[in-house]
Amino acid sequence: MPHNPDSINHFGDMPPEEFHQHAESVIAWIRDYLARVSSPNLEQVPRVLPATEPGDVRKHIPQSPPMLGESVADILRDFENVIVPNTTLWNNPNFFAYFSITASSIGILAEFLIAALNNNSMVWKSGQAATELERTVLGWLAEAMGLPRDLWGMIFDTASLSTMQAIACAREEAGIEARERGLAGRGAEVPRMRVYASELVHSSIDKACITLGLGAENVVKIPVNERLQMQPKALEAAITRDRAAGYMPICVVGVVGTTSAGSSDDITALASICEREKIWLHVDAAWAGPAAMLEEWRDRFQGWERADSIVVNPHKWLFVPIDLSVLYCRKPNVLKQAFSLTPEYLKTTEDDVVENMMDYGIQLGRRFRSLKLWFVMRYFGVEGIKSRLREHIALAQLFAELVKQHPDFELTTPVEFALVCFRYKPESHAGASETTLERLNAELEERINAEGAIFLVHTKLHDVYTLRFAIGNLHTSEAHVRRAFERITGVATHVQ
Ligand SMILES: Cc1ncc(COP(=O)(O)O)c(C=O)c1O
Repeated sequence: MPHNPDSINHFGDMPPEEFHQHAESVIAWIRDYLARVSSPNLEQVPRVLPATEPGDVRKHIPQSPPMLGESVADILRDFENVIVPNTTLWNNPNFFAYFSITASSIGILAEFLIAALNNNSMVWKSGQAATELERTVLGWLAEAMGLPRDLWGMIFDTASLSTMQAIACAREEAGIEARERGLAGRGAEVPRMRVYASELVHSSIDKACITLGLGAENVVKIPVNERLQMQPKALEAAITRDRAAGYMPICVVGVVGTTSAGSSDDITALASICEREKIWLHVDAAWAGPAAMLEEWRDRFQGWERADSIVVNPHKWLFVPIDLSVLYCRKPNVLKQAFSLTPEYLKTTEDDVVENMMDYGIQLGRRFRSLKLWFVMRYFGVEGIKSRLREHIALAQLFAELVKQHPDFELTTPVEFALVCFRYKPESHAGASETTLERLNAELEERINAEGAIFLVHTKLHDVYTLRFAIGNLHTSEAHVRRAFERITGVATHVQ
């Protein structure tokens, strides 16, 4: 392989002119990729799920690093030939798995600039614009979602980290001096702390509790009602029972838009319980949060302004490229109390008059993520975002109608936001057991995904094996949804 002579003949980085030339090739590649995925000729859209087998990629990449630098042309060729064909294309209109997302073009442009500035907003002095833009743009987002504009927020990478920070706050508020004294070896002095969430809560809550030393078994899963909402009475009973047994309830996690079904807890009811019991309320709206911009969906969010903390992920349903998660918190002073720690080299003369974001979380280094949210919100505008969210919800309704009209399929839960839960229940298998239906649906899922033209995943709701169809990509249109349903029904005819 020809080496790149610049890598040893000169010090420093690629010359700007050469950068420009390669940037043009990269941008042309992105342009062509976006053109292909958004092509009205659906046959031209690349498959969303590759036929990659474990180990396939490693086979094509040398296990030792190159000793001499390689040419950009070679690197880009391998990107096209090895990486792209072996990558699940999340930025593809036929992606209906997990939660479908979009790296919008404006978000992609922002990512270029974020990388070019390579700013690290540990403290205000190391990232003045990043720190101040974060405050402003999170105010914009809060206002658009019907929350107070001055609600304090902070950007993290993922909801998992945002939620861990929130539960760390709850632990701090519990007043057991975990920060200074830790938890281990303190015997009866530290009661076992408990966190409550519905049985449909995302696994990130359990992981946060594992990380924070609370223990997975202290996440109490409260049963849900027929609308898949946490039962407030059961929550109250669990708290009372736990207090009597010597546990210390510290946090309740309510969800708006559960991962499995899109269902939402009754946040008002949870807020009243938490206020009475003096327990931290964290609302996980990681996926559905942006839908709070839509007046007709506001009822799902009612009461969330009373939560102590809220997580919303613009990288899920707000067209911002991965990753960007927002933690709103009504008590940033508690976050600061839990995490502020300033070694000498990070002290600055402005400390008394500015916000240093490192004070509010586990991370010191931070990417300039607010830039991409700013770009996205400016490019689409709140009205533009709302119309796109409404379109996704309408497409989900369309898919649900197709399911309802087909004799061999049924909805397993009411459609919430842009997520449809459904399953194959063929008339030919009338009266089939749940085990048989699970086998049929698992096989259907497997066969559809093996084709790779569309991608979807399953969940289990009350032990019922359920397929999920999630819409959230800006390139997804009615044609994609109709074609997806045709593929599903077509494949289903081969599943016995
Ligand atoms: C409701 C909900 N909360 C939290 C998460 C975790 O998100 P992240 O991948 O940003 O940690 C997800 C992921 O899909 C989710 O659906």
